[in-house]
Amino acid sequence: EKDKREASQFDTLRWAAKLFHGTLQSEAGSAALAYLTGKRGLEPGTIRRFGLGFAPESWDHLLHAAERDGAPVEHLVSLGLLTRHPKRNTLYDTFRNRIIFPILTVGGQVAGFGGRTLSNDAETPKYINSPESAFFEKSKLLYGMHAAKNEIRRQETAILVEGYMDVIAMHQAGFTNTVASCGTALTRYQAKILKRYTSRVLFLYDGDNAGKKSMLAGIDILLSEGLTPWVVMLPGNEDPDSFIRNYGKEAFLGELESEKSSFQDFQLRCYQDAGWMESPDTASKAISAMTRSIALIADPVQKELYIDELSKKLDLSRQTLREVMAASDTGGS
Ligand code: UTP
Ligand code: MN
Ligand code: MN
Ligand code: MN
Ligand code: MN
Repeated sequence: EKDKREASQFDTLRWAAKLFHGTLQSEAGSAALAYLTGKRGLEPGTIRRFGLGFAPESWDHLLHAAERDGAPVEHLVSLGLLTRHPKRNTLYDTFRNRIIFPILTVGGQVAGFGGRTLSNDAETPKYINSPESAFFEKSKLLYGMHAAKNEIRRQETAILVEGYMDVIAMHQAGFTNTVASCGTALTRYQAKILKRYTSRVLFLYDGDNAGKKSMLAGIDILLSEGLTPWVVMLPGNEDPDSFIRNYGKEAFLGELESEKSSFQDFQLRCYQDAGWMESPDTASKAISAMTRSIALIADPVQKELYIDELSKKLDLSRQTLREVMAASDTGGS
């Protein structure tokens, strides 16, 4: 009974994805398509592969299409594609004037959508997503996972980026082992999904401060799930998509080679850049944080080797670091 209902909700999601994709190819989608192929440099094959779509500037495009195709309106409401006006009690399209990114489960079923506005209006949020539901749990989804999973396994590495456009630009450039965490902080659940395919993850977040903070937080999530994080820091105003568009694939490859660092080097660099290593009180805090990360690693040999490396980098004895680690270990994480 429950399975039947779920199957048909997935059918409705697939119907909506098809509708948005068709709209992008139609007259109503011409400006959106020009934006994607022109300004964002996407090839038609890339747009098809990711099933990108368009929701036009209309309050009832989806509603009318549902009536026409006999798609169940109650599904569209529960999936959040139609929103009920609280006072007028009427339904209207949730996604308007937005590029549509279908978000698939690992198995390839449409679970929900992300939408990027085409408007420059500062009040309009740049991205919105399907609201949380039994079908769409952002914290449990990785954008691009269905397309990337085989390459992640084959290359024994997953590349983790921030945004939808980063995933798409990376795949188009040949880095087909790339996924994104749907605009949330990386979760344990997402780390567990990655762990099914690889034990190595390369962080390639935006070069801004927000990106660095998210990588610092993500490192501990990955370590506690038994994954080994690596980090590439991009120049401050770039993300993978903009870097590839601005400088090309070759320069990007060079950046990957020269900027790739271990999670520990990345942490140390962040604390150095923040000036924490210049005085003993803040340095001590930074070192506690770094030993806390090491404490998350289950493998005793790796743990010891990271302590060893840190001891060389900081010119502190291993014994001292072990004491710091024992003191900061909250006991069972
Ligand atoms: P960014 O803020 O880095 O997007 O958000 P961007 O690179 O500027 O976007 P483009 O290139 O102009 O299109 C990265 C990701 O965070 C989520 C989205 O998943 C986005 O892809 N996000 C961002 C949201 O969910 N909501 C927002 O308002 C912004
Ligand atoms: Mn109408
Ligand atoms: Mn960002
Ligand atoms: Mn971007
Ligand atoms: Mn970005």
